[in-house]
Amino acid sequence: MIRRCTEDDFEIMYSIINDAATAYKGVIPEDRWHEPYMPKEELRREIDAGVVFWGYEEGGELIGIMGIQDVQEVTLFRHAYVRTSMHNHGIGGRLLEFLYDRTKRPVLIGTWAAAVWAVRFYEKHGFRLVTADEKDRLLRKYWSIPKRQTETSVVLADKKWWKWSQII
Ligand SMILES: CC(C)(COP(=O)(O)OP(=O)(O)OC[C@H]1O[C@@H](n2cnc3c(N)ncnc32)[C@H](O)[C@@H]1OP(=O)(O)O)[C@@H](O)C(=O)NCCC(=O)NCCS
Repeated sequence: MIRRCTEDDFEIMYSIINDAATAYKGVIPEDRWHEPYMPKEELRREIDAGVVFWGYEEGGELIGIMGIQDVQEVTLFRHAYVRTSMHNHGIGGRLLEFLYDRTKRPVLIGTWAAAVWAVRFYEKHGFRLVTADEKDRLLRKYWSIPKRQTETSVVLADKKWWKWSQII
């Protein structure tokens, strides 16, 4: 079952994020890694900034989450995390497709350049990497992240964004 996360899910969301984020350890630049990867204050800030989290629940237990955030004229898909023990069972894919079906605006996703599995995952679902210059511009425009994170990130865009970017 996919449902919107509530305040009651905060602790379990925090736990899923930091369990799944261990995939980044030794992969993303060392100066970007810290434990916990996402402290509670940061998760709280993201929710307060308008990231709406949806969760995949099985047997009454939340095992994967994904956030969406409308920013200016686009929607960002943020913070996709599935419990490590449950990877490769199609949960992330189901969450992504569910959220995508509910989104009318162009969709952008940012992730670590080194997280090749995540890039492949999004590409399988129809997203395409934008050029390095475009990535810098988009991250500045729609995200609030440190410069160093911009240098080490990539941005993927859906077909609505590619079409839209040719019109404007
Ligand atoms: C990225 C992430 C959210 C994907 O979630 P997931 O539930 O593992 O995703 P899926 O199972 O839908 O897809 C992952 C792979 O499993 C495969 N798969 C899907 N259903 C499957 C099934 N029933 N049996 C076997 N493999 C399956 C998919 O084809 C996909 O393969 P690919 O990586 O070669 O494209 C998850 O791996 C994760 O939390 N990673 C760590 C954090 C991260 O990188 N987050 C993204 C940052 S933006």
